[in-house]
Amino acid sequence: MSDLAIYPLSNEHKMIREAARDFAQKEVAPIAAEFDESGEFPSKTVKKMGELGFMGIEVPEEYGGAGMDCLSYVLALEEICKVDAAHGTIMSVNNSLYIHGILKFGTDDQKRKFITPVASGKSIGAYALTEPQSGSDAGGMKCLAIRDGEEYILNGRKSWVTSGPVADNFVVFMMTDPAMKQKGVSAFVVEGNAKGLIRGKKEPKLGIRASATSEIIFENCRIPASNRLGEEGEGFKIAMTVLDAGRIGIATQALGIAEGAYDAARLYASQREAFGQTIGSFQGTGFKFADMKTRIEAARLLTYNAAMTKEKSKQTGARYTLEASMAKLFSSETAMFVTHQAVQIHAGMGYSRELPLERFFRDAKITEIYEGTSEIQRLVISRSELGIK
Ligand code: CAA
Repeated sequence: MSDLAIYPLSNEHKMIREAARDFAQKEVAPIAAEFDESGEFPSKTVKKMGELGFMGIEVPEEYGGAGMDCLSYVLALEEICKVDAAHGTIMSVNNSLYIHGILKFGTDDQKRKFITPVASGKSIGAYALTEPQSGSDAGGMKCLAIRDGEEYILNGRKSWVTSGPVADNFVVFMMTDPAMKQKGVSAFVVEGNAKGLIRGKKEPKLGIRASATSEIIFENCRIPASNRLGEEGEGFKIAMTVLDAGRIGIATQALGIAEGAYDAARLYASQREAFGQTIGSFQGTGFKFADMKTRIEAARLLTYNAAMTKEKSKQTGARYTLEASMAKLFSSETAMFVTHQAVQIHAGMGYSRELPLERFFRDAKITEIYEGTSEIQRLVISRSELGIK
């Protein structure tokens, strides 16, 4: 991959990309297939990612993070996902879905208590928004938080919580005033050992199998009122703001998966022979490479642009909803396209579990679903373009 002319990378960018590439190739690549097969959470390599500073890349150093910019985060995550999207999911949820909301809306005390251990990789964070009856329609949540003096009592069921079985802390969204719909949602940080927080069964999944996903059930779970993020009623805005950041992570994950599959296909097409020539020299195969490469580079431009726009927003406060949604939409559909082509180019070997192609193919699908389906991204983009509320 060449650096892009419009985004000249600094030495710092190149260094974190190199560090992530080195770690991914040496430590994640050898174990990725085994953990995909067993579905076990890769605790050791996740801990190592924390030690290398990959679990809180944009967090200021005073809160235990690496103090780098959003493009640094994207470059590191891309390298991890070229090798294994499951490690990428764990890294992305920590950096964006969990940390971003606390960093942007939390008090200094909340940042010290809830970000520092997670940013330094000592503990793991998760984000609980979806419920069994409300996925895309996030405002249709039923989980309820009732104020009781200096505490809140939480009840209800959250589903599809990434890192749910292992997380130490959760950012959770609950109704505090159901009559107010989206404006009646509030956000909280809940510690994983809180009484009344119950971890549901681990979900069996098509892809990103080493990333653990579960329901989280709240049964009269009491938490201090000081764990509320922002004001009562601000929770939906917090959830959406966080998803804008999260969607840049998923766009990056999809880009990395596409690149991993593309690199493997390119090598294979230059070596595998049929009818007396390498299969890459057939025009039918060559044109697949033209389409894959063009889409990958377009996905990269959209994703890096979203990262740079987010970086600028740290000064201006402007939203980058549109940039993040376009990047996620295009990049995730690129991952599906490229992994499909890459399996086809490998033919039988692409279908075999002996190579990572079928894993890339399975892992790509989730990027079109979580943190807002492709249909939701189209809704967000079209509403923004047409000025529809
Ligand atoms: N930033 C800040 N505020 C935002 C916002 C954003 N990106 N998007 C909406 N808002 C605000 C709006 O301005 C509005 O506030 P005002 O009334 O004050 O103007 C308020 O939020 C309500 O907005 P909408 O009327 O647009 O709300 P809606 O109910 O129509 O929903 C939606 C909009 C885009 C469909 C939203 O529900 C959505 O994104 N749904 C998808 C949810 C999703 O991505 N879920 C994935 C969960 S995470 C996960 O996948 C699991 C995991 O662990 C990885």
